[in-house]
Amino acid sequence: MLLIIESTCDETAAAVIDEKLQIRGSVVASQDELHRIYGGVVPELASRAHVERILPVIDEALRRADVTLAELTVVAVCNTPGLAGSLLVGLAAAKALCAALDLPLVAVNHLHAHVYACRVAAQEEVFPCIGFVVSGGHSTLFDCRSALEFNVLGGTIDDAAGEAFDKVGSLLGLSYPGGPAIEKTAATGNPKAFRFPRTFANDDRLDFSFSGLKTAVRYALAPQGTEVADARPTQQLIADLAASFQEAVVDVLIRKAEQALARTGHRVLCVGGGVAANGRFRTKLQEAMQRNGVRLHIAPRELCTDNAVMGAIAWERFRAGLVETLELDIIPGLQR
Ligand code: KG4
Ligand code: ZN
Repeated sequence: MLLIIESTCDETAAAVIDEKLQIRGSVVASQDELHRIYGGVVPELASRAHVERILPVIDEALRRADVTLAELTVVAVCNTPGLAGSLLVGLAAAKALCAALDLPLVAVNHLHAHVYACRVAAQEEVFPCIGFVVSGGHSTLFDCRSALEFNVLGGTIDDAAGEAFDKVGSLLGLSYPGGPAIEKTAATGNPKAFRFPRTFANDDRLDFSFSGLKTAVRYALAPQGTEVADARPTQQLIADLAASFQEAVVDVLIRKAEQALARTGHRVLCVGGGVAANGRFRTKLQEAMQRNGVRLHIAPRELCTDNAVMGAIAWERFRAGLVETLELDIIPGLQR
């Protein structure tokens, strides 16, 4: 039995997964309520909340799995990338368990885990593939030769896709996190009302930039020389801006995934991360991949946003002998 601990950002999560990749127990304690009034994650609050929740969350995951500590064979923890204070809480908990129970410790990369959510859900091999993570902190394309070989093809040079959703959500006066709020509001809007920029769409590079799009929404809401705070948009204008913004992000994400597939020759695409929960993205991506004859795996919605189940990639690492010592440290930044 594998116990996975996830605390990279603002979700405290633990899961128990067996050798056959069956989910035996999973718990996610979200901190959305805590950070809502600030319109974004406050790192110091996040790490304090992890400290309070980590042990009850682990206990509850074991209880749901009906597994005792003595039945565990390996402990895994996401140690990169993420917020330093948040990562440290999960790592300390994992090390303590390994030291006390004399168990092997496996390190998991949170972004690789987002891709692996597709493998857990599919219950069949998905590698080699293009791995695509669209989350609050990252928009990253990987060439995955196997579950152990992830090579970065491109990523965000400014805001990640989810970050853009969150910032535009706050600009439009919607609740935090912005992604689900924009999706809901966009349902009554016209995606063609505004033609927002699709940065790098016709460029070969596999990188993303969403800050120009965010600025374009800002000026569509309140023209140059006027303040956003003074804008008095109608509900319909907000819905149109949300729908047009969402369409621009979705178009760029799909275009880049297509380019990554074409460049590498892979015929399988695995998509994870919070933004992959977006209905418009899921529908348009499915249509595009059907047209291209590509096998598409999108993580089920509950495995898109942060969770510990996706850390089941630790089984692959464990079987390959990739076990850590208790010297293991956190790596907050993204490694190329
Ligand atoms: O993967 P995740 O839980 O955390 C990170 O690793 O960053 O992703 C959170 C992000 C947030 O920015 C949130 O706004 C976005 O995912 N998100 C969505 C939707 N649900 C969550 N974005 C667009 N549409 C959604 N339905
Ligand atoms: Zn994540």
